[in-house]
Formats: sequence, C-alpha cells, structure tokens
Amino acid sequence: MALQLGDDAPDFTADSTEGPIHLYEYLGDSWGVLFSHPADFTPVCTTELGEVARLKSEFDKRDTKVLGLSVDSLESHQGWTGDIKDATGNTLNYPLLADPDRTVANAYGMIHPNANSTLTVRSVFVIGPDKKVKLTITYPASTGRNFEEILRVIDSLQLTSSYQVATPVNWKDGEDVIITTAVSDDDAKGKFPKGFRTVKPYLRLTPQPNR
Ligand code: BEZ
Repeated sequence: MALQLGDDAPDFTADSTEGPIHLYEYLGDSWGVLFSHPADFTPVCTTELGEVARLKSEFDKRDTKVLGLSVDSLESHQGWTGDIKDATGNTLNYPLLADPDRTVANAYGMIHPNANSTLTVRSVFVIGPDKKVKLTITYPASTGRNFEEILRVIDSLQLTSSYQVATPVNWKDGEDVIITTAVSDDDAKGKFPKGFRTVKPYLRLTPQPNR
C-alpha cells in the first residue's frame, strides 16, 4: 500500500552525488524533503533540480534537508549536474540519490505502473524530525512542481506542530491563522494573547503566534 501521512518514512542507504546517504543519519533532528524525478537528462527535471538549488537557503532557514532522487546511475547523475548548472545557472548543492535497482523508489511507491512501469513519477515527501511522513504529493511526469509551495507547506507544518492552529486557504508565513476547534474560547484567550476574532464559532482567526 502507498505510504500515508503519519507512516514511518522508510529508512535506506543509497549512493548520491555527495557520497553514500543513510537517510535517518542524514536527516538527524531536521525536517526532510525527498523528491523524485522520472529520469536524468530530461527537460522538466533539469529545471526542477536547478530551482531547488536556487531555493536551498530557504530550506536551510527552515532546518530542512533536501534530497532528490532519480532511478538512473550515479555516473549518469554526475554527467547531468553540469547540464543543470549550464541550463539554470544553479549548481547542484544538495544530494541527488542514485537508485538504479529502484530500492528507494519501490519503498516510497514512486513508480506508478499505470503511468509508466519503470520511471518514477514526480513524488514529494516531507518527513518530520520524528521520521514520520507529513506530506505526500504526486505530480505526473509532464508537470514541473512548484517548490515555493513546498516551502509554504513546511511553514504550515512547522507552525502547526508547535501551536494549536491550522492555516487557511492560500496562507503564507506571517498571515493570520485559525485556532483549532479543540481550544475553547476561554483557553484561546490565554493561549493567543494577541487576541482573536470569531467569524463563526468554529472559525476563529488570530495573528500568527510565533511572529
Ligand atoms: C522531463 O523531465 O522533462 C520529463 C521526464 C519524463 C517524462 C516527461 C518529461
């Protein structure tokens, strides 16, 4: 069965462009993003890998370690990294896992046989410091991902893991958040000293508590 939210992220050891990676050791107490690519030397993947390199400092700010994966070999990856720099202007600055025997791809359900029996689809997994899967997204091979959206979700996940809040539609870091219904109005007054406004009894908004 496909990995679901709350499942343990499967641990693995695999070769990468930065040497062998043991997932749990690599992540340590940090958050992680593991994202797969259908194949090396393909156009959409090239743009995605360059974009994640450009955004690497944003992931670092969120104490989040990024890991790309493509089922091709390490030798192939090493050849491709030059193209990624040429095409996007960004140098690969995070590990790209090689998975020629598809051990990681199979453990994470990254191959969708009805789409293509050998290639990984564009999967994204956000992994928490507790090594549980916090987010899964699956895109078709023909659609490049929006990694600003992945950062936005990480902001929400990190906030909601520390406070009894949820984030509304299109929320961005710094905007008002929703107090969860588990918190009574009386408790909300103590927990959210900046105050809150009640739109509906079940929809109460408060300034982002860690800002
Ligand atoms: C691409 O990265 O451009 C791509 C890879 C596999 C199938 C379609 C597009």
